[in-house]
Amino acid sequence: MKIANKKTVKILSNYPDLFNYNNFINEKLNRNIKQCSIKKPSFIDLFAGIGGIKIAFEQAGFECVFSNDFDKNCKITYDYNFLKTNNPNNIFQEQSNELFLADISGVKNIDIPACDILTAGFPCQPFSIAGYRQGFADEKGRGNVFFEITRIIENKNPKVFLLENVKNLKNHDNGKTIKVIYNELEKLGYYLCDKVMNAMDYGNIPQNRERIYIVGFKNKKHLQKFVFPTKIPLTKTIENCLEKNVDKKYYYNDKPLFSRISNAVVKKNTLYQWRRKYVRENKNSVCPTLTANMGMGGHNVPIIIDDYGIRKITPRECANFQGFPADYRLPKIADSALYKQFGNSVVVSVVNRIAENIKVVLENEDI
Ligand SMILES: C[S@@+](CC[C@H](N)C(=O)[O-])C[C@H]1O[C@@H](n2cnc3c(N)ncnc32)[C@H](O)[C@@H]1O
Repeated sequence: MKIANKKTVKILSNYPDLFNYNNFINEKLNRNIKQCSIKKPSFIDLFAGIGGIKIAFEQAGFECVFSNDFDKNCKITYDYNFLKTNNPNNIFQEQSNELFLADISGVKNIDIPACDILTAGFPCQPFSIAGYRQGFADEKGRGNVFFEITRIIENKNPKVFLLENVKNLKNHDNGKTIKVIYNELEKLGYYLCDKVMNAMDYGNIPQNRERIYIVGFKNKKHLQKFVFPTKIPLTKTIENCLEKNVDKKYYYNDKPLFSRISNAVVKKNTLYQWRRKYVRENKNSVCPTLTANMGMGGHNVPIIIDDYGIRKITPRECANFQGFPADYRLPKIADSALYKQFGNSVVVSVVNRIAENIKVVLENEDI
């Protein structure tokens, strides 16, 4: 049946007799009115990786119109999940959204669509304790990608942005780095706030992952209305995140490291990490912070003991400890690439809670 357009609906609504004559049509028309009038707020996702932030914002009702990253392996994972042609059952978004593979410094403003919101989990190496502490002077230019973000914010003028980074961003260079970030964004006319949140306290995910979230609003009143999520109880357990049937290749039984770790890795549902010379037990009943380095050599991948022996956790379990949905698909690429991707990503539920609170503010635009 051909569904009436908006104009027809308006005309019909002037003739209540005709309009009420068939409930079935009436219902269809109402649904159509709804579809015409509700347009999802759009967002662009920079440094999108494998789409953790994208999923969180889409779950909150936003529409992703552009994603960028320069990592080919990320594109494989991203497109494997979000491109309709690859994944016909894509539950994440109605429209296909391919990852735009390019170094952000080479992406012209004209190639980026207009948006209501900009999100960016920008590279954290220059700011993290584990990295070089080089900040904006990072030799590899990684600190400078921040200025690509300001370039795009200045051009697209979004109502809101969300930036995510390691907790240490706040203290880096005695607080000078975050000061520069605030100054640059305030110069563009934004009002900012930030909060460090740990996934185990704010996302109901058993991972010790502290990250700083910076939210900026173009409208000062929106900032006053916005609140960061508050703590919630942690009910999800390590056990909830573990797989039942794990491939033999993940077990250390008979491997060189086995003799060095077997005395220390003894408790079930506890995660351990091999720290070059010794094993460290996580005593908080959560997973230690997953990092991008997990992809390099694999020694930092958390270790666990189950009914079949001692093993490292699998890429799927990393996805679970980042709160990715169960139907997120892992492509057949090297495990090292998958470990890196999940270590680099976000805890989806924490970002989703921020996105929900941003939505509340934007829904009351007239304030
Ligand atoms: C911390 S991760 C963000 C991960 C993402 N939020 C997710 O959920 O998967 C940073 C990402 O920035 C990308 N990146 C770093 N420098 C870049 C650049 N100059 N241009 C484009 N992407 C870059 C990396 O490949 C990496 O995937």
